[in-house]
Parts: sequence; C-alpha cells; structure tokens
Amino acid sequence: MSKDRFPERAKTITIIGCGGFIGSHLCGRLLDATAMRVIGVDIASAKIEHLLGRERFVFTRADLHDLDSLRPLFKRSGTVVLLAALCNPALYNTKPLEVMDVNGLGTIPLVSLCAEIGARLVYFSTSEVYGRTAASLGCRKRGGFLLREDESPLIVGPVNAQRWSYACAKQLVERYIYACGRERKLAYTIVRPFNVIGPRMDFLPGIDGSGVPRVLACFVSALLRGTPLKLVDGGKSRRCFTYIDDAVDACLKIVARPGRTNGTIINLGNPANETTIAGLAALMVDLWRQLSPRTRAARYTIRSVPAAEFYGRGYEDCDRRMPDITRARRLLGWEPATGLRDALEKTLRWYHERYGQSATRAGT
Ligand code: UGA
Repeated sequence: MSKDRFPERAKTITIIGCGGFIGSHLCGRLLDATAMRVIGVDIASAKIEHLLGRERFVFTRADLHDLDSLRPLFKRSGTVVLLAALCNPALYNTKPLEVMDVNGLGTIPLVSLCAEIGARLVYFSTSEVYGRTAASLGCRKRGGFLLREDESPLIVGPVNAQRWSYACAKQLVERYIYACGRERKLAYTIVRPFNVIGPRMDFLPGIDGSGVPRVLACFVSALLRGTPLKLVDGGKSRRCFTYIDDAVDACLKIVARPGRTNGTIINLGNPANETTIAGLAALMVDLWRQLSPRTRAARYTIRSVPAAEFYGRGYEDCDRRMPDITRARRLLGWEPATGLRDALEKTLRWYHERYGQSATRAGT
C-alpha cells in the first residue's frame, strides 16, 4: 500500500489553500517549528513569496478541482489540510454558485480522495455553520448564545437569504466528512475558526484586490484612504476576534495530536475578545491615530449604512458568535493568549508599515 511506497509519508503534510491568510501563516509555522515536509497547493502565491525558497517546502500551483494534480500529492502525505475557501460574506449573495462550488461541491471529491488513500484530513470549516444564535430567536436558556460543537443547532435563514449559501456548503462538507468517518474509516478533525485576524488578511480593495473583504480589511482600507468606516446596520453585531498566532498554535497541536483530535469538531476562537463591530471600529480608529499621530483628527469618521446598501439583496447577519472552547482547552491544552487590543495593534502595525506610505502620499 502507499505507506510502503512513500516511507516519508508520515512526515509530509499537504496544505490546500496555502496561499491564503491562515494557510500562509500555517505553512510558515510548520516550517519554523516542525521537521515536516510541507507541500503547499494554491492558485495564488503572493502571500507565500517569502516561503518559496525554503527547504522542505514545495509549492504546486493547482486548483482544487484538479484531481489529477492533487492525487499524487495526497498519496505522499500523511495529513491533508483543506483551507481553500471563498470566505468573504460579500460573495455569498452575489456569487452563490461559485461560493457553493468552491466551499462545498468542489471540496467533496477531496474528502473522498483522503478516505480512498488513507490520508488524515484536517478540514477548516467555519464558525458560520452555526448561523444565527438560538438566543436571537428568543430562546432564553442560560448560556444560549455560547456555541458548542456537538450541541448548538445550526440555524440558517430561508433559501432566498443567500447569505447562508456559504454556511450550507460548509455544513454539507462537515456532514460528508462525518459520514466518511463512520462508513469509510476516514481519520479527520474538523476545525471551526472564529473571526481570525492578523497580517495578510484578505485584500485591500484597489491596492491588491477588488470587491468587499471582511470587516478588518474594510476598516483598514478606510483608515488608509481617510474615508468613513462603515457600520452595517449600526455595527451592533458581535464577534470574538482571534489573533492568527493563537489560531496557528492550535492548528499545530491538532496536526501533532491525531490520537486526541481525530473524529472531533473543534471550535477555535477567543471568547474573551468579544466586541460589537461599532466597538471594533472605535478601537481601530484609536490605534491608527497612535500609529499616524500627525494625521488630522477629523480624517477618521464612522457612519452607519443599511445592510441592503452595503451587501445588496439576500444578506442576513449572524448577530453574535461566541465559541465555547472547552474542547480545545481539554484536547489541545490550548488557551488563546492575545487580547483584542494587542491583536489589533500587531495587525495594524503590519498594515501601517506595509501600506502607510501610500496614505502619507495621499496627504494624510
Ligand atoms: C465571515 C465569514 O463568513 C466566515 O466564514 C468566517 O468564518 C468569518 O468571517 C471569520 O472571519 O471567521 P463575518 O464575521 O460575518 O463572517 O464577516 P465580516 O465580513 O468580518 O463581518 C463581521 C461583521 O462586520 C458583520 O456584522 C458585518 O455586517 C460587519 N461589517 C463588515 C461592517 O459593519 N462593516 C464593514 O465594512 C464590513
């Protein structure tokens, strides 16, 4: 069997989506902190240029539908990490077919391939599978807003609320993996990350991409340009922002501990960092002012916009997203260490150093 043909298999890991935000950080840390050989797969490499010459790192440019290219890589790997995703909410109601393909239907064959060749699968799902909280629908049970892996219901809106195309696609893959675990002995761990932030997140519209990224990059873009930070429907929704280094610490433990984590779903998030989006905007303005002390104070403004204007028809929001991380603590001995202010300071410093000059030239 392939184990004999590829004796290095146990020490080799393939990361599908290595060129994305989490993937680029995970590859770097696997190379720095372990002796594993890392096979990175993506259609883009801008975020991993600094890794391309590294020993033990091989980059393959391939799409997740390209099974002919992926099959031999999977056969050489003891573990496959699936990170490739289209995860910006602005796409969910504007390009739902592509969203459901990349995040759902196009991912299913990769799960089957892992089951077929006996590779362990670490699948990055999303906190968004929880959808809305039971508390938002009037369930007053104590702790009803805390999201637990094997207990919380997954609550999404009607079909015409296309916001949920992504959550449904990811949920389908989770259920498919679970079934493969039971019927085909697939070894797997499913990860549900909660609003991970840090350097290299998404893209900045008009600088290195186009469209609407997630909230952190939207706000950074506004700070750089001196345009208003926009609060969708007043910014009342809540999120628990998790710093990338904490998230990657947990990922390394999951990779290293199959015996403890196989067959489980694990929330990765930082409940202590909960804030409203309005609170996030205020804190980011405050921190950005400290990074650009000479900028005119009037330059940074915050204003509310209706969701339908910002995202278009079919958008609905998750009101509150707070993870119960008891399982991650128990299985991994993990505790997120970076507070919200610290996480934002590190992230904004990176953006300021990298892109701040363009803002200075624009007269800030
Ligand atoms: C997204 C993805 O859908 C999830 O898959 C992913 O797991 C999650 O991010 C994540 O980063 O973990 P969401 O939190 O809704 O979900 O995405 P954001 O675009 O970051 O929005 C957060 C909140 O900020 C929402 O309430 C949104 O309406 C609001 N927002 C966004 C603003 O108020 N202003 C903006 O400019 C952008």
